[in-house]
Amino acid sequence: MTISLEPATKISNELKALLNQAIARELQVSVQYMWQHVEISGVRGIAVQDKFKMVGIQEMKHAEKIAERLWYLGGTPTTKPSPIEVGKSLQEYLELDTKAEVEAIELYKKIIELATKESDYSTAHIFREILEDEEEHHDLFTTMLENV
Ligand SMILES: [Fe+2]
Ligand SMILES: [Fe+2]
Repeated sequence: MTISLEPATKISNELKALLNQAIARELQVSVQYMWQHVEISGVRGIAVQDKFKMVGIQEMKHAEKIAERLWYLGGTPTTKPSPIEVGKSLQEYLELDTKAEVEAIELYKKIIELATKESDYSTAHIFREILEDEEEHHDLFTTMLENV
């Protein structure tokens, strides 16, 4: 009897590439939000400083989770973030971050759809959970933007 050492779930190269895009984005925003936390200034900025740190840490955890999944599926997680855009003012931070969250939401819906099509229900499940966080981040950033 031969036992296969391959992962029990196999996914397409297209889905692997999307998972790497997701990792690149998560690395991007974890640095982007953390540096906004570091560089923030002004009275209004100081009041919301910790929000950027909190969300940045959540994004790093997303990167880890997705990288673990991709590694399990036989892929190699990228170490390169998508372009990081920190911005110069609280208003600009929040505009950039809202945009980043919208892009994440669009990408993760696409991943859930493709993973489901390929019967990779665990990846779909992981991304449903992450999607919920991204929707919360989007809600937080747009609420903050209304109050700048
Ligand atoms: Fe994320
Ligand atoms: Fe997010």
